[in-house]
Amino acid sequence: MKESIFDYPEAKLTRGVTLWFTGLPSSGKSTIARIIERQFRKWNLKVELLDGDVIRTHLSKGLGFSKEDRDANIKRIGFVCQLLTRNDVIAIASAISPYREVRDFNRRMIGNFVEVFVKASVEECEKRDVKGLYKKAKAGEIKGFTGVDDPYEEPLNPEVICDTENETPEGSAEKVIRRLEELGYLRLNSHSQVR
Ligand code: ADX
Repeated sequence: MKESIFDYPEAKLTRGVTLWFTGLPSSGKSTIARIIERQFRKWNLKVELLDGDVIRTHLSKGLGFSKEDRDANIKRIGFVCQLLTRNDVIAIASAISPYREVRDFNRRMIGNFVEVFVKASVEECEKRDVKGLYKKAKAGEIKGFTGVDDPYEEPLNPEVICDTENETPEGSAEKVIRRLEELGYLRLNSHSQVR
């Protein structure tokens, strides 16, 4: 076995799959997702990243943060992931997706579904506060902010847990890719010849 996943010159996808990143704001979802996206592109695999923040400026424009609107947002992202997955693409979703039921709805709909729980305590996420929104939520300037005054339901059986308080982003990305290999979605080749 090679030292690092990133050293493999070639990887093949056996079938389409949705990689679903869920976690608190500032937990590290998009950071890990982007590293994986970059590596898949290096391997010339068909990949599409659907980031909650970006989706909310297009496909989910106008939706807010009530449970109903979040669920609608997650179902829309799930619908696109399903289309991609059935066309043998790797769909990577990165969204808080705080409600278990709608994540499980997407899992059932998509089938080839790998849930990645990006785990960090609220205290740690609040310290990172990448966009300064925890601060605003604490000051009462934003209502219903996940982790402050809105719920986050942790996955019960995620395929991968990225513990971002104790792992580097690259380490977490590697863990996810290894899991895809274990689950049979990906074959890593040491030589650039197709076996
Ligand atoms: S989800 O709950 O519907 O999955 P999504 O991941 O698309 O959320 O969007 C989250 C982003 O919206 C956060 O990264 C943050 O920038 C922004 N945001 C604005 N208001 C809120 C809020 N009340 N709760 C969580 N995120 C919010």
